[in-house]
Amino acid sequence: MSNFYIPVVNSATQVMRELRFAFKTLDDVDVNGKRVLLRLDINCSVDPESKELTDTSRIEAAEPTLEYLRNSSVVVLAHQGRPGSDDFISLEQHTRVLRQLGFNATFVDDIFGEKAKNAIARTKPGEVLVLQNVRYFDGEMKKGTVDEVAKEAIVQELYPHFDLFVNDAFGAAHRSQASLVGFTAYLPSVAGRLVEKEIATLTEATATDRHPWTLVLGGSKVADKVDILRKLLGTNRVDSALLGGLLGTLFLIAKGSIPESYSTPIKGFGEAVDTARSLLETYSDTIVLPKDAAVPKDGSRVDCAFTEMDGNPFLDIGEKTAKEYAEVVKSSAVVFANGPMGYFEDEQFAAGTSTVLKAIAACKGTTVVGGGHMGAMAIAMNLGNSITHISTGGGATINFLTGKKLDLVVALEAAAKRMDS
Ligand code: 3PG
Repeated sequence: MSNFYIPVVNSATQVMRELRFAFKTLDDVDVNGKRVLLRLDINCSVDPESKELTDTSRIEAAEPTLEYLRNSSVVVLAHQGRPGSDDFISLEQHTRVLRQLGFNATFVDDIFGEKAKNAIARTKPGEVLVLQNVRYFDGEMKKGTVDEVAKEAIVQELYPHFDLFVNDAFGAAHRSQASLVGFTAYLPSVAGRLVEKEIATLTEATATDRHPWTLVLGGSKVADKVDILRKLLGTNRVDSALLGGLLGTLFLIAKGSIPESYSTPIKGFGEAVDTARSLLETYSDTIVLPKDAAVPKDGSRVDCAFTEMDGNPFLDIGEKTAKEYAEVVKSSAVVFANGPMGYFEDEQFAAGTSTVLKAIAACKGTTVVGGGHMGAMAIAMNLGNSITHISTGGGATINFLTGKKLDLVVALEAAAKRMDS
């Protein structure tokens, strides 16, 4: 075993005990018999055709908090997808999963209207009521300060019905939106068990100046990711940023390695491409781009040079790239990974992501895999025990790495001060 290995996951509980959070947790409040408004992040992967949930690990991650609230009347607020996206669906299926997990959960197709309020009034201790997808309400998509978003109708209409706000939505901790931070302006507010555990574990995993420090970044949501990459590279923490997925495609177009026609599947290409160009100029030694591609030809995967793609969709990093990325990852002291390297939903194009995940599992340094897709794939590949921490956060985890306090934490800290005074 290399001498820089630290078993971070096993010491998370110890870290939680040693860390003094500036926000309050469930241990600081009496929850018995109380009416609790619980914000979760149960945003799951969804099959674009059938609209069925394909990975429910974020729902399972809510279990410790829901268990702790067994004697409270719990009302759950959560989002799924974004307006206009394939995965923008109702929370009915999520409620069924909660029932399968043993919770007495029901769903109401309303967020803060009369139907919701009547259902909230009927919710008894031991019951969990799931309200409709909060992003069906337009005001939820607005971002602002706590005081600004607290004015949104979702907050004004709901807060008088509760004694306590519990925020356990770690995956959305970087979003200053009404359902995530607005309630902290009015209700005693504490962090749930998942938020506590994620922050303790990530605090320990980042409290190191060991190098080489490698970032593996892929997937979609390119506008968000380019922005966070800019912030993270600005910290000078990263030695190598290995890019893949649609994010990698964006950078290859920005560099002129592949034609702009490959931008078609990239939402937000226009707003992200200039930033990608300027990052390539400033951080040419740090940013590592794919050297080859995998495309479908006659129904089968073909690994080829960019010049041989013949206009076929770029669905995975090629074999040569996967091998190069795996070597960098294996010899790193710290690895943070978020977002798949290709269209992993099709087994033929999951190879890039699985090669990188196997390398992460083989790495003897501190390794953190974030984001629903990659984390779920690591678990499905039975690599969970060889990775230091599988985080439920994608954007939230990468934001944490920039050193800026997450919006959720800032809001809970302010609420704690109010509760003390
Ligand atoms: C995520 O999946 O990263 C979180 O649920 C936040 O979702 P968002 O990026 O759509 O705000």
